[in-house]
Amino acid sequence: MAIERTLSIIKPDAVAKNVIGQIYARFEAAGLKIAAARMIHLSRAEAEQFYGVHKERPFFKDLVDFMISGPVMVQVLEGENAILKNRELMGATDPKKAASGTIRADFADSIDANAVHGSDAGETAQVEISFFFPGLNIYAR
Ligand code: PPS
Repeated sequence: MAIERTLSIIKPDAVAKNVIGQIYARFEAAGLKIAAARMIHLSRAEAEQFYGVHKERPFFKDLVDFMISGPVMVQVLEGENAILKNRELMGATDPKKAASGTIRADFADSIDANAVHGSDAGETAQVEISFFFPGLNIYAR
């Protein structure tokens, strides 16, 4: 099975709840390694650029407002099938629909404040990793 990298964001709601460590523990228990990490408070321009693909969607402004409401913790996760594995750990976008035991079921309050982001495919993962870690070291282990 392929070793992949994916971009994960712990969103402002989960950072404010002080559950970064609990979420990291889930990544590690699932065999995903933290290959790079940084905490950042996004500017509006950065959030609008990151979510540019959604700019025509009705929730775009709410999403950007939320993502700049506080610091986020951003990491590259590495491991077998990392993209899908992380999406499974996250659970459905709407926490009300997320399977029990998933990060969103356990830590998210609403579809707006849904605790985590994860790349949805290989190409997006590459773009998103370059967005947050341009020219920075990512540590394969
Ligand atoms: S996904 O995860 O990309 O399949 O989900 P999608 O439904 O396409 O949503 C894309 C991102 O927009 C967020 N979202 C919302 N934000 C605010 N309000 C509403 N109603 C809403 N619906 C979706 C959703 O959390 C996704 O953010 P990321 O950071 O990509 O997970």
